[in-house]
This record gives sequence, C-alpha cells and structure tokens, in this order.
Amino acid sequence: MTISLHPEANKEAIVVTNVTKWFGEGETRMTAVNAVNFVAHFGEMLFIVGPSGSGKTTLLSMISGILKPDQGTVTVDGQNIWNYSNDKLADFRLNTIGFVFQDYHLFPRLTSAENVAIPLILKQENWDHAIIQAKKYLDIVGLKGRSELLPIKLSGGEQQRVAIARAIVSGPEILIFDEPTASLDGDTGRLIVQFVKEQVLNEHRCIIIVTHDNRINDFADRIIHMEDGRITGLDKGTE
Ligand SMILES: Nc1ncnc2c1ncn2[C@@H]1O[C@H](COP(=O)(O)OP(=O)(O)OP(=O)(O)O)[C@@H](O)[C@H]1O
Ligand SMILES: [Mg+2]
Repeated sequence: MTISLHPEANKEAIVVTNVTKWFGEGETRMTAVNAVNFVAHFGEMLFIVGPSGSGKTTLLSMISGILKPDQGTVTVDGQNIWNYSNDKLADFRLNTIGFVFQDYHLFPRLTSAENVAIPLILKQENWDHAIIQAKKYLDIVGLKGRSELLPIKLSGGEQQRVAIARAIVSGPEILIFDEPTASLDGDTGRLIVQFVKEQVLNEHRCIIIVTHDNRINDFADRIIHMEDGRITGLDKGTE
C-alpha cells in the first residue's frame, strides 16, 4: 500500500548542504558536483534528472557513503555521515543504504536467492535463515519460483527485481536507484517504479531515483533537475 505523505509534513531523511566534488588536477580539474543543496524526506520518492555527465551518479555516491565530498556535508537521519569512522561508514552502507545499480551488479554464479541473501550474510545471519528471508523478498518482488535460477536465466526486468529485493532485504531506510529503467522497455520500467512506490515506499523510508526516463516522472513526489553539476530546478511531481 502506498503511504505517501506530503513531504513538508515529514521528517528530514537526507540533508545535502553545499556538496561539491572535483575530479582531476590543475588545468584538467573539473567540477562534477557544484555546491548542491537539497533535503529529502521520509515518505518521499524524489527523482533527480539531468543530462549525461551532469553529476547525478557522483552525487548519489556522496549521499551513500561511497565517495567523500571535497566540500559540504551530507546528513542522514540527523548524522553527518562524513564524520563517521571507516567502520561506522561501512556499517552505514550496509545497514542504512540500499543501492540499486543501473546494471544490477548481480553475482552471475549465485542464484537469485543467494544474491538477495548477501546483505544478510554480511550481517552475520545464519545461511538457512538468510535464504528463507531472501525467498520471502523474491516473492514480494513478484519472483516466486525464480529463486533457484542464475541471473543469466532471468529477463532484464527480473534481474532488476532481484537487485531491488537485495537492496530491501535488510530493511534499509534509504533506497537509492541509479537509472533503474535505463535498459528496460517503457512498460517494464513503469511497472518496476510503480511496484517500488506501492510496495516499498513507506513513511520510514526515503527513495531517491536518478533517471533519464521521463516516462516515469509521474511517480515522483518531487523532481530535482541537474545540469553541469548544479541544481537548476525543482518540480513537484505530476501525480
Ligand atoms: N572517477 C572519476 N574521475 C574523473 N571524472 C569523473 C569520475 N566520475 C565522474 N567523472 C566526471 O564527472 C562528471 C559527472 O559524472 P557522473 O557520472 O556523475 O554523471 P551522470 O549525471 O551520472 O551521467 P550519466 O547520466 O551518463 O550516468 C562527468 O563529466 C564525468 O566524466
Ligand atoms: Mg550516472
């Protein structure tokens, strides 16, 4: 069921303040993300859109504890994540963030259920219990009966759903999707985003989706536009 409250009524999940990232040195130095500010709320599905090279993936990496900003702060659930020790940051990436990569990043030699179980195994859960949980989440994403298959036997949309199940199996508050529909046809892409909005979003979660795909814009609560590393606009979603 969708629980999509008005963003202003909700607690702040992510506060990005003046975040900047440079790559390269001297004359080749370029600013990939340039003094970006925004707030994402619990209960909200926020889209970030913009042309290729505008800094979207770089921004996601800094929010997820993968890439350290050169300037600015990222606060998640009231904590400045870039003040964390390395151990705490690893714990944050494992427990607070669920990241769905554009090209799924499934392990080709592991079955669907084993792929989904990985975060639980990393959290020291017992193998049999982790596989039972993984199967439950494969059911939730509509892949009942596909748990023993290797990724190569699955369609692109099914692999994407395995990646979603893996991102949500350990209950992270923040879900981040980088181009989830890029390699899917329009109908499959819409079904996946609709599924995530209806079944995965709730008032304790915040979901950020980076996309080029304006066929899914109507699912967004708000849309941030990026160009050349900067935020150039903010829309309310069209729903
Ligand atoms: N590790 C890196 N080293 C050097 N330059 C980088 C690195 N990562 C990204 N960049 C550059 O930073 C800019 C922003 O890249 P980024 O991948 O964030 O863009 P994007 O908006 O995600 O693009 P796309 O829509 O194509 O995925 C690009 O010019 C890119 O070449
Ligand atoms: Mg990208």
